[in-house]
Amino acid sequence: MDIFVGDQNQAAAHVSDLIAELLYSKPNASIGVATGGTMVGIYDELVQRYERGALSFADARVFLLDEYIGLARNSTDTYWQTIRRLLAERTDLSDDEVFGPDGAVEDLIAEANRFDQLVNEARIDLQLLGVGLNGHLAFNEPGSSLSSRTRVVDLATTTTEANARFFETNEDVPTRALTQGVGTICQASHLVLVAFGTEKCDVVQNAIRGPVSDLLPASVIQTHLNVTVVLDHEAAQKLG
Ligand code: GLP
Repeated sequence: MDIFVGDQNQAAAHVSDLIAELLYSKPNASIGVATGGTMVGIYDELVQRYERGALSFADARVFLLDEYIGLARNSTDTYWQTIRRLLAERTDLSDDEVFGPDGAVEDLIAEANRFDQLVNEARIDLQLLGVGLNGHLAFNEPGSSLSSRTRVVDLATTTTEANARFFETNEDVPTRALTQGVGTICQASHLVLVAFGTEKCDVVQNAIRGPVSDLLPASVIQTHLNVTVVLDHEAAQKLG
């Protein structure tokens, strides 16, 4: 496992280097993208590099980790629209090459299976990952099997509370989601987990140094052969 520690700008630059190198060697790469506050600076850095002509997403495809259930597909709060806004609208990544589970369909189980198969066939080259305060990966809350597949999940209270900042009222925060399973995520060739801030230091320490357990889904990264963890100094402060 590679561990990079720096300030948040250096961290965003490091992640962008990894993505730029991938796109250079494989322009039609499949990139797994994540949402959450941690990722915003990384997308800004990628956009700046695109504007400088340093990278191109023209032949790339991106795949989301997860999606809220119950929001209209075109709602600005869906993760699908978020990635289109943060990345596709600002680069040469085609809008049509942003793939995610649709949380607005009637048959959610069929949708979970469809997306799982899509990800399986896409063979993700690099998967960006944030981590929840409770150790969740994507929306795999504590207790999710480490071999789980894409499915419908209920969100933990800590997750809906943390995500409330993105919504106008607490009642607007979705309580269910479709998420790639932990097993689905681990099929990616390279996992890049990013965490910032003091509030993530315990979960980072436990995910990297603690026991591998479905009680802390992020600990699964210890079992993957190609992992890069990118931290700011605050998130890294408890690492021995
Ligand atoms: C959401 C997403 C996760 C993300 C997490 C952390 O719950 N489903 O994929 O890792 O938020 O978000 P933040 O970066 O805002 O701390």
